[in-house]
Amino acid sequence: MCGILAYIGREPAAPLLVRLLKKLEYRGYDSAGIATVIDSAIHMAKDVGRVDEIASHLDLTSLRGFGGIAHTRWATHGGVTPENAHPHLSCDGRIAIVHNGIIDNYKKLREELENRNHSFRSGTDSEILAHLLEDNYDRAGNEITAVSKTVQKLSGSYAFVALFRQNPDVIAAARKDSPLMIGLGDGENFFASDVGAFIDRTDRAVFVDNREIALINTQGFKVTDFNGVSLRKLPTDVAREVSDVSREDFAHFTEKEIHEQSQTINRALIQTPEKILAVSKELAQAERIYLIASGTSYHAALLGKIYLAKFARRVVEVSLSSEFRDLEEFLDDHSVIVAISQSGETADILEAVGIARQRGARVVALINAEESSLSRTCDLSLSINCGPEIGVAATKSFTSQITLLNFLASQMAQKRRNQVELEALSKKVDNILAQDKVVRRVAHKFNAVSDLYFIGRGVHYPIALEGALKMKELSYIHAEGLSAGELKHGTLALVTENTPVVALNPEDATYEETLNSVSELKARGARVIGVSNRVSTLYDDFIQIPSVPNDLFPIIEVIPLQLLAYYAALERQADPDYPRNLAKSVTVK
Ligand code: F6R
Repeated sequence: MCGILAYIGREPAAPLLVRLLKKLEYRGYDSAGIATVIDSAIHMAKDVGRVDEIASHLDLTSLRGFGGIAHTRWATHGGVTPENAHPHLSCDGRIAIVHNGIIDNYKKLREELENRNHSFRSGTDSEILAHLLEDNYDRAGNEITAVSKTVQKLSGSYAFVALFRQNPDVIAAARKDSPLMIGLGDGENFFASDVGAFIDRTDRAVFVDNREIALINTQGFKVTDFNGVSLRKLPTDVAREVSDVSREDFAHFTEKEIHEQSQTINRALIQTPEKILAVSKELAQAERIYLIASGTSYHAALLGKIYLAKFARRVVEVSLSSEFRDLEEFLDDHSVIVAISQSGETADILEAVGIARQRGARVVALINAEESSLSRTCDLSLSINCGPEIGVAATKSFTSQITLLNFLASQMAQKRRNQVELEALSKKVDNILAQDKVVRRVAHKFNAVSDLYFIGRGVHYPIALEGALKMKELSYIHAEGLSAGELKHGTLALVTENTPVVALNPEDATYEETLNSVSELKARGARVIGVSNRVSTLYDDFIQIPSVPNDLFPIIEVIPLQLLAYYAALERQADPDYPRNLAKSVTVK
């Protein structure tokens, strides 16, 4: 989702901003732009497209100045047009802003501003920020007061950064419900929506919290509350690891991240025993446990529910973060929320956690991005520890989440045998990855396919959902995941000659029943791709997976599905790293 960035220092801002903006590309975007300030003028260039293309045709790096702001936009209000790209200028061009989030009351504010003769150039909600600041700046006499007066008018979620023609020595910002941090360098400072943007320049960061205003200059920073009252904030050393984002020899980050899983699965098991104990205790004592998450992380939560039931004998509720509000009235200080999120910045989960907190519930987070908003609002957290995930579609974070959930549930049951088995998984993952040619041949057959189904029962059902989600987002083929038992309750009507169905059918208690579903599908002409450790003549194509303990099958069987989606994307000339319309961190509701 939108990436925001600002630099003030001793070197020309534009070339640096263009380079650092590329580190925010993974968040997903449709347009980009930058503005710099020098000699009492703001220079701005922006367009639709990728950062490299825009930088070359608009010659972005030639913009002069030692301070500037930059943005990657993921459209919410207003189409994907050059005018709607950020930055946005005030009427008189004295102030430029970039924004991430949604200003809910922008229509009313725009009407008021237009009545006061402000003229708008875009159809965005964001542009009102430049005009409000323009109105407030003269009266306020300084940047912090101008921002303070501006935020009093806003409702919604935002992190925005503003550049002032009259004072090129400072850059101001404010945050409410969208991520924002300050990077503190040597004679240079940054604002960014994530640490990865400036980490190769500095690993000292200050996290701007909700309802805070911040100001940077070349010498330092200042943070106040929304009323302009100074706050004492201490810098934190952030992990250098987040700068490790090279594709190495892989064609795409997604491919690299799929292949990394033989190591990342093991890393999910590197947990401080005291932390695991504390989380286990928290869950054991809770009267009610809710697992909440979105998208792929939600599929991990569905599996977490099964692991907690099977091992720890705990019956838990699973909810999509965006639907959690319906359960609000059941929350109290005996409830524990397990919030599962790779990014820790998903707006839906942050809102759900906020609701839970208001009701007195405790919050345990399973996260990858340790310096995220979620990690700073929870009571306890465990890291899935899989390193930066750049491909927009979650791959390695999913297997790490389910590995950790399996580990946690088995620890709660004092079932230590499981850890050894989990560690042995690495080799089995390599074994699967070595078969990528087989998977590619299957993906090739999907060229003319418009619909695809994934089926599985028990622990394989969440994987069927995940296989379908991966296929949709990477290849744009319509796909549906369903419990094999549900086929006959409706979806079987869609199965005709050659309808492709991927059957997740390792040899466990669900094997025979799923094989029966496969027979029913075959009787209607379906073309079935079996994913199993046991071959059957019913399958038209077969992807072999190794034998592992039954509860661990999901961790390895999802990998060929990720590869299948990846290769289907390549067959269709789609860019697997940046699926259209999608963003890595979904920071708006
Ligand atoms: C799908 C995908 C998304 C995310 C979802 C939640 O491949 O990546 O569905 O899983 O947006 O994101 P996090 O886990 O960061 O909260």
